[in-house]
Amino acid sequence: MISVDFRTYSSVPPETAHSVVLFCDGAGFARDAAFQSFDRTLQGRLAKAVKAQEFKGETGQTLSLLSPGETILQLHLIGVGPKEKNVLSDRERFQQAGGYGFQALKKTKLKEKKAVFILPEALGDEAALIAFGARLGAYEFSLYRSEKKEAGPAHLTIFHPGKKSDQALSAQWKELDALSESVLMTRDLVSEPANVLYPESFRARIEALQIPGLETDVLDRAAMTSLGFGALLGVAQGSAKPPFTIILRYQGATDREAAPIAFIGKGVTFDSGGISIKPAAGMEEMKTDMGGAAAVVGAMSALARRKARVNAIGVVGLVENMVSGDAQRPGDVVRSYSGQTIEVQNTDAEGRLVLADLLAYTRDTYKPCLMVNLATLTGAIVVALGHEYAGLFSNDAALSQELEQAGRVTGESLWPMPMGEAYNRRLDSDIADMKNIGGRPGSSSLAAEFLKRFVGDTPWAHLDIAGTAWCDKGTACIPKGASGFGVQLLNQFVAEREN
Ligand code: BES
Ligand code: MN
Ligand code: ZN
Repeated sequence: MISVDFRTYSSVPPETAHSVVLFCDGAGFARDAAFQSFDRTLQGRLAKAVKAQEFKGETGQTLSLLSPGETILQLHLIGVGPKEKNVLSDRERFQQAGGYGFQALKKTKLKEKKAVFILPEALGDEAALIAFGARLGAYEFSLYRSEKKEAGPAHLTIFHPGKKSDQALSAQWKELDALSESVLMTRDLVSEPANVLYPESFRARIEALQIPGLETDVLDRAAMTSLGFGALLGVAQGSAKPPFTIILRYQGATDREAAPIAFIGKGVTFDSGGISIKPAAGMEEMKTDMGGAAAVVGAMSALARRKARVNAIGVVGLVENMVSGDAQRPGDVVRSYSGQTIEVQNTDAEGRLVLADLLAYTRDTYKPCLMVNLATLTGAIVVALGHEYAGLFSNDAALSQELEQAGRVTGESLWPMPMGEAYNRRLDSDIADMKNIGGRPGSSSLAAEFLKRFVGDTPWAHLDIAGTAWCDKGTACIPKGASGFGVQLLNQFVAEREN
């Protein structure tokens, strides 16, 4: 993770900077004092380059000059101005600018370990968000490379015009520092291969967090057996790796007795499909089938790290879905924690079985004011929404709107999906209370209806993140790979309730 410090400037350019990123806010950027000062140092070359390259300071625009002056090795202009049809929230726009700034530095072969970001007057307030974006954009999972790729600078100094008090800036950075650490931890968890990250090692990572105020409880196989987690344990039974349910507790509200918010995550550390085995092509991606659990752990750690004024519970079900002589068979009937029985017609529809027990147990045990579950649940949601939106299913319109709003602010976008009785009826079984599949058409909604049978009347939302937990293409703040989707979203959802 790159380190960051902030400084105010009275005059620019800073003498010692060899690598400089200068941010440009839309149309008027050439009149800004910082821009003009660099242009003078470079004897008008900056203004000339801007003209020649038709750089307008729009979001996503970059202009790079290598060795433009004696002491300056590289100078990048990064646009932060709104485009005409801007679909980004302000927050996203500033974050992305930070990401683009870092990527411009990384693209050159210069091996500078330090760089400076310089903000114009107009962006004086956005130093923390820009640093946050740079940190997210700088992420790389390089644990298993013998030779490290050139990663770009390890340290950024952010020069800002000092419009915001040091106190206000450091308060804002404290929160975003905590949040970025949590997002990157979630990305690490999702990136780890399934031979390294399995239920027990996932549990060990959660226990190693040691964040003040964040307590964990563990349910092992014996505990889950006596509680009657038949649905979750059926999924786990084909694996040599023992399953765990981990509960993370955080009490930050003034009223420590206030009903908590509950976040629940699917943590299938590898999904082979079980006896209903998946095709070989692409199966390796199923190491990411714990993306919901990773997001919940990330969100809980962010709340604890920034000392959010909320009571929250995180519950993750950690299991591996494997094939063996002991594996669950298609047609098996299991009894869930809620008492409802399930005919497992397809062992690859395992996420809903894990969540069924978690949801009912969470509702009974913690009496939460609301439940939000995150899960890489269905391939069908990827077909419907691609990698742009996660599917949002809910039994509560107000909760749904709050989550959507948090999605708009953070850029972790949600799209509301339909539910209803007609879907639900397709889950009726001939020999049990329900079956776990009901045909391909609308199967993401079907999965949501399955979960709904375990939530009772608690306000609840299900986020199907199968398309958003992993990115095949990199963006400004999400290099190709694990996105950490859900951490910023849940954190923002809580932040809006705090005020
Ligand atoms: N983990 C998968 C869903 C998934 C697909 C996640 C693609 C990420 C990317 C889930 O357990 C699954 O296998 N779902 C099946 C359900 C079907 C058997 C009803 C699916 O979507 O095909
Ligand atoms: Mn599956
Ligand atoms: Zn799965």
